[in-house]
Amino acid sequence: MRKKIVAGNWKMNTSVVEGEALAAAVAAGMPEVPSDVEIIIAPPFTHLVSVAKAVSGTRVAVAAQNCADEPKGAFTGEVSAPMIAGAGCKYVILGHSERRQYYGETSEKLVKKMRLALAEGLSPIFCVGEKFEERNAGNHFSVVGAQIAEVLFELEPEEASKVVVAYEPVWAIGTGITATAAQAQEIHAFIRGTLAGRFGSDFADGISILYGGSCKPSNAAELFACPDIDGGLIGGASLKADDFLAIAKSF
Ligand code: PGA
Repeated sequence: MRKKIVAGNWKMNTSVVEGEALAAAVAAGMPEVPSDVEIIIAPPFTHLVSVAKAVSGTRVAVAAQNCADEPKGAFTGEVSAPMIAGAGCKYVILGHSERRQYYGETSEKLVKKMRLALAEGLSPIFCVGEKFEERNAGNHFSVVGAQIAEVLFELEPEEASKVVVAYEPVWAIGTGITATAAQAQEIHAFIRGTLAGRFGSDFADGISILYGGSCKPSNAAELFACPDIDGGLIGGASLKADDFLAIAKSF
């Protein structure tokens, strides 16, 4: 059985103090979240150590939002996969559309980042998703298929089995417009089928595929009820502990 996961991507929000309080509030809500749901929070780099301490001994796991494509050395401003693992993270978000769009994240760089993260025992949360004009042109399957193939097909099955995939249509991120459950299910099934074609159906059945893009308490249950949607990657709604916890209870 694949894992159900609800992950909060805080993006560039909260001070350290606010982040510690948010993490503690999420951890305090864990007794009400079904025990088969994995809860992950992804604060900014500056918060990782103290947030990891704030949630240590609880069911809340910590993710970084990115890592460098080199392991160490003269790369001013970068944070490496070993540093992230050492800070107490279990996961790292890679290939978020904001990184692809604003910071020149290419599939080539992402393969390097994935390998470095996996070598540290981190599970990458690998994001894919089409832009508005790509969906309008009917190209969403080919765009997402290429994003998967260019990165995940480069990994060994053993490595790829540690990856969580997040489908996040760019037109739904932070816009308040959510993909309908039918739209999301259709492309999640396509992603699982694409993975089955490369790695086999047992492998594909074990991979968690999360939906992201304006997921909130009011629409999470309908999305999570779809057979190929295994949870959510939550942006805006993860900044309020009550909303994030309500989403986590939506399975
Ligand atoms: P959103 O962001 O929930 O604010 O739309 C999702 C994401 O970018 O991960």
